[in-house]
Amino acid sequence: MGKGKPLVSIIVPTYNERENLPILVERISKALNGKYSYEIIVVDDNSPDKTWEVALELASKGYPVRLLRRPGKLGLGTAVLDGLKKASGEYIVVMDADLQHPPEVLPKLVEKALSENADIVVASRYMPGGGVEGWSFIRKLVSKTATLIAKIVLPQARKTSDPMSGFFLFRKDIVENVSLNPLGYKILLEILVKARYRRVVDVPYVFHRRLHGESKLGVKEIWRYIKHVLRLSEYRPLKFAVVGASGVLVNEGVLFLGLTLGLGKALSGLLSIEASIISNFILNDIWTFRSRRKGSMLWRLIKYHFSVALGAVIMYSVYFTLAVILGFNPYISMLIGIVLGFIANYLLSEIIVWR
Ligand code: GDD
Ligand code: MN
Repeated sequence: MGKGKPLVSIIVPTYNERENLPILVERISKALNGKYSYEIIVVDDNSPDKTWEVALELASKGYPVRLLRRPGKLGLGTAVLDGLKKASGEYIVVMDADLQHPPEVLPKLVEKALSENADIVVASRYMPGGGVEGWSFIRKLVSKTATLIAKIVLPQARKTSDPMSGFFLFRKDIVENVSLNPLGYKILLEILVKARYRRVVDVPYVFHRRLHGESKLGVKEIWRYIKHVLRLSEYRPLKFAVVGASGVLVNEGVLFLGLTLGLGKALSGLLSIEASIISNFILNDIWTFRSRRKGSMLWRLIKYHFSVALGAVIMYSVYFTLAVILGFNPYISMLIGIVLGFIANYLLSEIIVWR
């Protein structure tokens, strides 16, 4: 090394990967030598199998390997962030040591970044040409569900086909002065939500079977992931649900008033839906989506009406059919209408009003 700064810093967190590391480093050098300058930053958590020793050996053999040895198992998320502090490249790549992320994809990531002027390049399993090898149905389902949750809750996650990828590249300067939270190991999500960037590009790859050893990420990561996504979303979905619940009370309350005053089922239902739309708007505007408000409140109120129109029409149609035509209990009919209109409402609010 030593000859100026490399173009790319490859951060490789390791925990008990001594058999994989030499193969990884060799394959990286085959893939990148003569193409792009690079360094490999191994962040090892004092692995019991002495992976750090292997890293030092590789460095002494002349491979551009730098070691960050931490005192104990501190987690994948912080490993990446600590590696980042040590990195000197213009571009950062994060990848696993176990060869599930094929090093042969590396030149493609760098090429894309340079030729398309991309700030983030994601190696994606979920696009044509990409895939997973040897996964059980359950593991596929968990991964797909987690991806879907991220995409629903975090608009920025929709910029890539694989926001849960552990294999990606980014320009180092897009995270300068950005405080990244290492709670989860999903550093890419963290970057997509918080960094300052313009272009995100995907490159397909096939996620291979682990070469040696076993996965270190277990069920408890799923819970951490959910907490991570909620925090990144500033708890918007939870707040939205609380507001929605209050809207149900407003709706049923006004319905009760209307029926008591003898306005009839059809008109009472209409008034109660409109009352809940207005109260939901006000609460979401000053609470749920406070940080995303832009422009005049009246304009947002109008847009909000458009965005909930479909949900409201569904709600009223269901209510009308059940309560007015079929003569069911109006409160229960309204409740059923509310449930059916709810999902459509959340999605449309995210997309149109508080984008
Ligand atoms: N330093 C350090 N400390 N490294 C760790 C730790 C830790 O506490 N835990 C895991 N690692 C290292 C592993 O040695 C490996 O190189 C890499 O981080 C990924 O860990 P795995 O245990 O192989 O994770 P996985 O295969 O279950 O998950 C991977 O694939 C997912 C895609 O489904 C990761 O890349 C995830 O980020 C990715 O989402
Ligand atoms: Mn792995």
